[in-house]
Amino acid sequence: MSLRAATRDATGAEEVPAVVPVHVGIIMDGNGRWATSRKLPRVEGHRRGVEALRRCVRAARDIGIRYLTIYSFSHENWSRPVTEVSELMRLLKFFIRHDLADMHAQDVRVRVIGERAGLSKDIRALLDEAEALTRGNQGLTLVVAFNYGARQEIAAAAASIAADAVAGRLRPEDVTVELISQRLETAGIPDPDLIVRTSGEQRLSNFLLWQAAYAEFVFLPIYWPDFDKAALVSAVNEFARRERRFGGVVPSPAR
Ligand code: IPE
Ligand code: IPE
Ligand code: MG
Repeated sequence: MSLRAATRDATGAEEVPAVVPVHVGIIMDGNGRWATSRKLPRVEGHRRGVEALRRCVRAARDIGIRYLTIYSFSHENWSRPVTEVSELMRLLKFFIRHDLADMHAQDVRVRVIGERAGLSKDIRALLDEAEALTRGNQGLTLVVAFNYGARQEIAAAAASIAADAVAGRLRPEDVTVELISQRLETAGIPDPDLIVRTSGEQRLSNFLLWQAAYAEFVFLPIYWPDFDKAALVSAVNEFARRERRFGGVVPSPAR
């Protein structure tokens, strides 16, 4: 699904994409390499990554993207050194505390996906607060994937369906693609049209595996702390040039 862009860039000069994806997923990768290439500690890259995230949210809003899902911490990221994990936790708290009021003022709605159970009480409380405060907002929906893993999400959906089946509330033939989609944490959010990954890596790393069935992928050769509006515009322009077929055929031009 995509919409014609309704907005022009404030400067008038920058090309505003002609076709804007409704939902963009971003794998914010390369913080560590950004830092080590400057002989800085990896955590410095994460700190600068928060600034890139702030630019990204504003740019997504300016361009007219409706849903932006950001991969902030994966289920597998717990395997990193304890000091790096605690800095990533601290930065999430900092981002919510520092930016929530501003995002609320920008009419951004915050939704969080990922396992809450494994997170500390103060982080859970902040995530709840962000969702509750912005629940009624109508602008960009920012989906924060934190402690998220797509396989874990699908396994949890399967478990909830199995529980309903055992209780006699569902029959095997009730288990459809739509039902599974409704049991995922992204229920009600359209599938991503475009997935962008920075850092040059070309993999999903357990991000939105089910939802990305027909997403377009754009891999940017920049590290996440260098991400800006121009990078987002270039990814969206690349998306606009793609021919999406969804398994069908594209009608040939009339002769
Ligand atoms: C992305 O940057 C941030 C998270 C995964 C939390 P990385 O920390 O993965 O940076 P690289 O890939 O090691 O450079
Ligand atoms: C994916 O990046 C997770 C996030 C961006 C939060 P990683 O850096 O953890 O992924 P791999 O290890 O390179 O696949
Ligand atoms: Mg990485």
